[in-house]
Amino acid sequence: MYVLGIETSCDETAASVVKDGREVLSNVISSSLSFHKQYGGVIPEIAFRKQLETITQVVNSALSEAKVGVEKVELISVTANPGLLGSLLVGVSFAKALGIAQGIPLLEIDHLYGHIYANFLSKVKFKFPCVALIVSGGHTSIFLMKDFDKIEILGSTLDDACGEAFDKVAKILELGYPGGPFIERLARRGRPLIKFRCSVTKQPLDFSFSGIKTAVLYYVRSHRQGKISYKSKCDIAASFQSSVIKALVEKSLLACKVKKIKTLLIGGGVAANNSLRQAFLNAAAHAKIAVYFPPHVLCMDNAAMIAGLGYRLFKKGWKGDKYAD
Ligand code: KG4
Ligand code: ZN
Repeated sequence: MYVLGIETSCDETAASVVKDGREVLSNVISSSLSFHKQYGGVIPEIAFRKQLETITQVVNSALSEAKVGVEKVELISVTANPGLLGSLLVGVSFAKALGIAQGIPLLEIDHLYGHIYANFLSKVKFKFPCVALIVSGGHTSIFLMKDFDKIEILGSTLDDACGEAFDKVAKILELGYPGGPFIERLARRGRPLIKFRCSVTKQPLDFSFSGIKTAVLYYVRSHRQGKISYKSKCDIAASFQSSVIKALVEKSLLACKVKKIKTLLIGGGVAANNSLRQAFLNAAAHAKIAVYFPPHVLCMDNAAMIAGLGYRLFKKGWKGDKYAD
């Protein structure tokens, strides 16, 4: 069964054709990032205007790359929540119009559950239940997943999202946007010797990243004599990154322990970080837990994960927009 996925929750306009929930036949992503870079973050007004301009072409490219005519598409699966309102509206309106015009059913999908599903776009077959950690620019949450439509939240961030903290620290260090890849690159050359710590949360499975970001800001302010050196930036990046990864690993493994789960799925943009992946692999091996990540390209926002999850929910009898929160 061919499913057309559409994803426009943030700066990206993405479309993908996925066969039977696993085989990614096309994965087209057009980003308006270059138009936002000068502002140091995504400007909603620019994002949805660019999405309006590009969506028809992106969907056409996804269909032609997959060599699947629109008449063969049996389901349209579109991100409906969470995200930038104007951006989501572009995707949902396009999907609904296409569905009505072509007589194709439509499913509205939660973006975060899509990020978890990115793990299922591989040959690995998972057995439920699993614990899933989503670390993106807008969210940081731990879920207990009993099935594709039985997902329970165990903890989430009380303030900044993990990716947001990477972006803000990169801004403090006058690096580019999005900050995650810049921090990762500097961290590779730095020593994690500065004592930055993630705040302790009342509920152990919740997260808090705003304190560590502020600690970095104060450190930079108090140590800046003229311009901050490249070497100190590397040490700051390494120290910040290692503390954030430590918190993510500890809390995810705690969730597995509390819920007696042996499979851990990671997803979202920050899951592209190689130090994070290595730290999870080491800690999980020690705890005898199997940990999985999507390939790097599927950690970022994409429509293949939305098409894949749509397929699973459709097979379970889901219809229309009931699944979106
Ligand atoms: O999932 P995503 O593509 O979009 C959202 O749904 O938010 O995540 C984007 C976030 C950004 O905050 C970006 O800085 C972060 O993922 N990110 C990274 C890396 N690559 C992207 N963070 C740390 N290390 C990376 N290599
Ligand atoms: Zn995302």
